[in-house]
Amino acid sequence: MPADPSGAYEHIRVAPIAGALGAEIGGIDLSKPLDDAVFAEVERALHEYLVLFFRDQRLSEARQKEFGRRFGPLNRHPFVDPDRTGRQDPEVFEVRHETGETYIFGEGWHMDHTWKPVPLMGGILFAVEVPPWGGDTLFSNLYLAYETLSEGLRAALDGLRAVHAANPALYVGDPNLSLTPAQIDAMRAVHPVVCRHPGTGRKLLFLHPHIVRRFEGWTEEESRPLLDFLCDHATRPEFTCRFRWRKGDVAFWDNRAVMHNPINDYRGFLRVMHRVAVEGTAAPA
Ligand code: SIN
Repeated sequence: MPADPSGAYEHIRVAPIAGALGAEIGGIDLSKPLDDAVFAEVERALHEYLVLFFRDQRLSEARQKEFGRRFGPLNRHPFVDPDRTGRQDPEVFEVRHETGETYIFGEGWHMDHTWKPVPLMGGILFAVEVPPWGGDTLFSNLYLAYETLSEGLRAALDGLRAVHAANPALYVGDPNLSLTPAQIDAMRAVHPVVCRHPGTGRKLLFLHPHIVRRFEGWTEEESRPLLDFLCDHATRPEFTCRFRWRKGDVAFWDNRAVMHNPINDYRGFLRVMHRVAVEGTAAPA
């Protein structure tokens, strides 16, 4: 892996993988506790690159949770019970795709749990089994999405709020659902469309193509064209990076600043990821 081209990090190596976001982090063994200086640099790199990738890790579930806990309390998914393989730990969610399945968890561009008043801070995914090809994950930079809008549209979006509602249609085919569609649909929150990231203070576009129902005070029909435009804009190829997984890789994304999108193109192959999610600490503002 190339050395940190910026020379800005002392304890880790940082190699960007795309122009918009994403960096591979070297010089770290996540199976061991991180000292404070290393942790501070990982956090700084997350603010700078929004999604970090750690190759060739040997990560037990306990250590994955410890790593997550450095950033905040861990999430337990409120309506997907990941226990079908008999695992008992509700804080380690197994994103499992069997060879005969067509459904994949989280398909399409999304952020995690924006239907909660305080959405997740981040997600940490560890690759246990990967297909021989496909199953990459895309990420998009929501700062760039905001900053590249015209001045006029940015001004129009300031002060606008969006109604986020959990969407049961996204889980059709999921064998692990523990709530009914009506119960899922009732999970809602209203967030500003333009938020300031709590760690960097920078403004970003905080939207979700399948969870935002409408803008507050607008009908769904009125909202859809602008929402579609903004979500298409936010996922323009030049605002994204694409990660090709190998067994043992870890991705850690800042859920307050990126959308992500796992690609459903590996039918017939097993893919198993262990996912630990970190709770956010403040409502988007
Ligand atoms: C997710 O959306 O949490 C899963 C991402 C992936 O499987 O790559």
